[in-house]
Amino acid sequence: MEYDVIVIGSGPGGYVAAIRSAQLGLKTAIIEKYNALGGTCLNVGCIPSKALLDSTEHYYNAVNHFEEHGITVGKVKADIKKMIERKSEVVKKMNNGVNFLMKKNKITVVNGFGSFIDKNTVKVAKEDGSEQQLTSKNIIIATGSKPVILPFMNYDRTRIITSTEALNLQEVPKHLIVIGAGVIGAELGSVYARLGAKVTFVEFADSMIATMDKTMGKELQKSVKKLGAEFHFNTKVTKIENLGKEVLVTAEDKDGKPVEIKGDYCLVSIGRRPYTDNLNLEAVGVSTERGKVLVDEHTLQTNVPGIYAIGDVIRGAMLAHKAEEEGVFVAETIVGQKPHINYNLIPGVVYTWPEVASVGKTEEELKTAGVSYKTGSFPFKALGRATASGDVDGLVKILADKATDEVLGVHIIGARAADMIAEAVTAMEFRASAEDIARISHAHPTYMEAVKEAALAATENRSIHS
Ligand code: FAD
Ligand code: NAI
Repeated sequence: MEYDVIVIGSGPGGYVAAIRSAQLGLKTAIIEKYNALGGTCLNVGCIPSKALLDSTEHYYNAVNHFEEHGITVGKVKADIKKMIERKSEVVKKMNNGVNFLMKKNKITVVNGFGSFIDKNTVKVAKEDGSEQQLTSKNIIIATGSKPVILPFMNYDRTRIITSTEALNLQEVPKHLIVIGAGVIGAELGSVYARLGAKVTFVEFADSMIATMDKTMGKELQKSVKKLGAEFHFNTKVTKIENLGKEVLVTAEDKDGKPVEIKGDYCLVSIGRRPYTDNLNLEAVGVSTERGKVLVDEHTLQTNVPGIYAIGDVIRGAMLAHKAEEEGVFVAETIVGQKPHINYNLIPGVVYTWPEVASVGKTEEELKTAGVSYKTGSFPFKALGRATASGDVDGLVKILADKATDEVLGVHIIGARAADMIAEAVTAMEFRASAEDIARISHAHPTYMEAVKEAALAATENRSIHS
């Protein structure tokens, strides 16, 4: 069967690439090895994790914060099985949504494992043992990523688990040991800490969410600590063993001293690797480097003309919205348009409570690059809106060029930071100065006023309310 575009993988990169291709009049097929569309993000990533984060946040607030709002409830109980069921229903609804979008855009969906036969032909091996071949001048690799697991971690899917299993636990761990205090560790560690699990983080770096602005990691740690979590930073895991009803984590601290921690579950969240297993890239000569498919910066085309790659399988942040932008980008490139992605302005969000959201450069990056910058910060506790709701933890930090006042980075930890970051992204897309943001009227009382106040602070230290 001959198509204008074949997409391999139906995650946010792949299905968005397929929709944009179809919108542009291209005859499009999408291949997905699982029966459900939507990839990691929809099935075992963004959506199910947020469903559990939301459920457990309601529970945590009912137990810990309703009283101070004058709400008395009886004994509050968390039903983990029901939370997981609800999460699965949410995922199912979203799966149906993607199915609907494929039909609406007349995209052919082929379920099965795709692999290259030659540069224009993909073979699909189906569940029932049959095979189908599809041909096209343009093929988009959108096969995503899988969790990194090292051999000595003895991953067994039952007690030594990754995020995929952590989204399906049927009991609340008594003691969850989380290896890696990055984004997954912070989010899923919070889920189980809110439900009453003791959570211990073992992290190689010296802070949580170590690649984000250092202030964010420091503040987040304070909040996660309030959930009872413990931390071993600068600590390298050397072995994880399933002892039956317990797991034993063996590690070394920065002085080489041994550390042993026992728990009942161990979540390994030390990053993800691009997934191209059995895709037969060798047959067509597509170049890779340390597992990542190499692409041309201007076209996202691989070294083989007509074969493109997007999302987690290539360089850059492993984020759903980055994959989506690249999906649109490639479809438009195929029809001869000249799209653009500003990689500096892809925001990053951690859905803990409070949330963390960032865009642009961190303070550490500006220091390393030798850029002269100024900082403006504003604490949530000085906001009327935050005081009214009781969500007073956190701050907004704006970094602006010392000479030109252009905003170079915005870092927020606080209630609704995930939504607030959009203002910073928009302002920075238009190359706003801190003073530009400071002069825009922000509704009162809102959390967004913290962005205006931080911008005022960066503009000659003119914050009004702090
Ligand atoms: P994927 O979503 O991984 O999709 C790839 C698809 O290709 C899969 O469905 C796979 O089955 C299929 N496939 C692979 N090989 C083949 C083959 N040979 N034949 C057929 N099909 C194949 N990002 C955010 O932006 N926000 C979040 O809140 C967020 N939360 C996350 C939470 C967790 C727990 C995890 C694990 C990830 C999270 N992410 C989040 C990251 C996000 O899920 C990924 O960045 C995103 O899914 C990448 O999209 P993609 O299209 O590149 O690949
Ligand atoms: P991560 O890269 O965010 O964090 C991994 C952490 O593990 C790092 O801090 C690292 O120092 C540490 N580490 C690595 N090896 C270690 C070892 N041997 N011992 C102890 N610590 C070790 O990766 P994570 O959390 O697994 O997430 C993977 C990707 O998924 C992220 O890059 C992110 O892009 C995406 N994601 C995004 C989310 C969001 O946008 N809200 C939510 C969840 C995942």
